[in-house]
Formats: sequence, structure tokens, C-alpha cells
Amino acid sequence: MNILITGAAGYIGSHVVKQLLESKKHNITVIDSFKTGFKETIKTLQSFGSFKFIEQDLSQWDEVESILKKYQFDTVIHFAASLLVGESVENPLKYYVNNTCNTANLVNLCNKYGVKKFIFSSTAAVYGEPSSNKMPLVETEFTSPINPYGNSKLMSEQIIKDAASANKEFKYVILRYFNVAGAEESLSIGECHDPETHLIPLVVQTALGKRNKIFIFGDDYDTFDGTCIRDYIHVDDLASAHISALEYLEKKNSEVFNCGYGHGFSVKEVIDMIKKVSGVDFKVEVSSRREGDPAILIADNKKILKETNWKPKHDNLEFICKTALEWEKKR
Ligand code: UFG
Repeated sequence: MNILITGAAGYIGSHVVKQLLESKKHNITVIDSFKTGFKETIKTLQSFGSFKFIEQDLSQWDEVESILKKYQFDTVIHFAASLLVGESVENPLKYYVNNTCNTANLVNLCNKYGVKKFIFSSTAAVYGEPSSNKMPLVETEFTSPINPYGNSKLMSEQIIKDAASANKEFKYVILRYFNVAGAEESLSIGECHDPETHLIPLVVQTALGKRNKIFIFGDDYDTFDGTCIRDYIHVDDLASAHISALEYLEKKNSEVFNCGYGHGFSVKEVIDMIKKVSGVDFKVEVSSRREGDPAILIADNKKILKETNWKPKHDNLEFICKTALEWEKKR
């Protein structure tokens, strides 16, 4: 297949590109603006196989159109997005422009230039703050985002679905990511967010002495130990879900899939695991709740397991934390 990947220099995008290159089955073109992705990541990816790289921001619609017109892709995998929940509350328009408008433009161009398959990075944030008795969450659960980030992704989902209803040649898979973490085993690429806000990299940095302490955002939730529970999925398993989605679209029709393991761990369990794998007893302090954090978020993953050939390999918190730690040491 002739595939375009946007946001390929980012955390999840780069892991998908690596797997696609290793499969040696496709003709790959990647674009990234390097606003949040890294040039170094593209250089590293070049050691896994050849692909075309174009430095391009999706907001430059004329240039994006020239690329789609020139290369006649049959598939687009769209990662490029802004993804900080807090920032989205302070600067919502950045999210509606970067995430929603640029996705609408990209989908429009896909329709104009005959792209037939579209794989979209969505998020558990589209579910908002579901009550704990809804867990594990099925894809048909009510969507009700509580911040502009989640809204920007849900609107993008709707745009993609409407485009597909109007154009029977255009099919999509929307993947709703739960809490992605870890790094691929050879540690050539891994997680690099600036600023970092996610639990596992922050705890790992604390274990390595890069931070003085880790805050637990609330220990008075209605969970077994009072801290929030999340469904942590290893980045290589999330990446392989995209490969499965590609294969799924070869034969089947559009679909939305949750990406998670179907069970979760508490913040305290994650911290204890990182203490175990690092052998370091670092400082932990309980602070107040972070606004908008549901007590529990767990994916019901039956649909992706049944409908696609996805076979997760790293449903193991210890492995996730170990690879996150080793990557943090190395980078
Ligand atoms: N947490 C802490 N201390 C920290 C950081 C996080 O206690 O320093 C807690 C949070 O309160 C939460 C859990 O750790 O309970 C996980 O938090 P993350 O920030 O790592 O992840 P989120 O669950 O908030 O976010 C994930 C995705 C988002 C997506 C969201 C959907 O990373 O992109 O799920 O709800 F929007």
C-alpha cells in the first residue's frame, strides 16, 4: 500500500512507522512539523528502512494538498495533533484548529484525491468522566468529553464518519487509545513529551533522580486503594493495533475500536511497580485531585480482539514500566 503517516516523529506515530518499515510491505511517506515531534526520531527510523520524509505542518492546506495530489496515497494514518488536556482548556482554539480543522481538511483532501482508507488516533477522553459502574467501557458508551482536547477528537471522529457515509469508497478505523506507555524493546525510540504530564514517565524520572518527588493526584477516590485506576497499554501493542486496523480495512468496513487490555492498575500500584523495577525508594506525596480525572477508565477490548487479528503481547505492567525506565535512562 501507498501510505501517508502524519505526526510520524511523535511517540505513537514513530512506533507505528517502525513496525510498518519492518514489515517491508508498504510504500511509506511521513510528514511531521516538528512542533512536538523530534528530528532525531526520524533519523532513527531511517535505520529501519527507507521512506520519504516531508517536513510539513498540516495547517498549510495548499502544501498539504500538493502532497496528496502528487503521491496518490491509498491510505492515511493520522496521528498529528495537540494532546495536552490542560493546555486545551487554556487555549481551546489551538485544539479546534490543530486537531479538528486540520483533520477536516485532511479528510476532504483524502476524498478529493481518492484515498480509500483512513486510520485515526482518537482517545478515551471522548468518553469524558464515565461513572465507575460503566467499566469496562464499550465503544457504544455515551460520549461526553469534558475538555476541548476530547471535544476536538470527538468532532474529528464525527467528520470522518460523515465523510464515510457520503462516500462509500472511503473507509475508516477510529482507534480510541487508553493509557499508552513504555518503549519498544530495543529502546531505539520511546516517549518524549515536553512538557511531560503522564504518570509513568514522571514516576520513572523520579526514580532516576530527575525529579524530587511524585505527586499522587488524590487518594480519596472510590477505588480499592483510593487512587485512580487506568488501563495502561504498551506502545508496541498500540502500534500493532494500527497494523491490524490496516489489514481489517482490506476486507471489512469502517469501525471504532477501543485500544486497551480490559483491566487496570491504580496510581499506587504503578508507583510500587516502578520502585520494584528500579530498585529505588523515592519520595511520594499525596496532593489534591486533578480536575477531570475519572476514578476508573478501563477499555472493553472485546470488539478489536474479535473483529481484527490484533494479538497484544505485552499485557504486563512490569514490562511496561521496565521499558519506560530503560528508555528514560538512555534518552
Ligand atoms: N497522575 C498522578 N500524578 C501525576 C500524573 C498523573 O497521580 O503526576 C494520575 C492521574 O491523576 C491519573 C493517572 O495518574 O489518575 C494517569 O494520568 P495520566 O496523566 O498519565 O493519563 P490520563 O489518564 O490523565 O490521560 C490519558 C491520556 C490522555 C487522555 C486521557 C483520557 O494520556 O491523552 O487519558 O481520559 F486524554
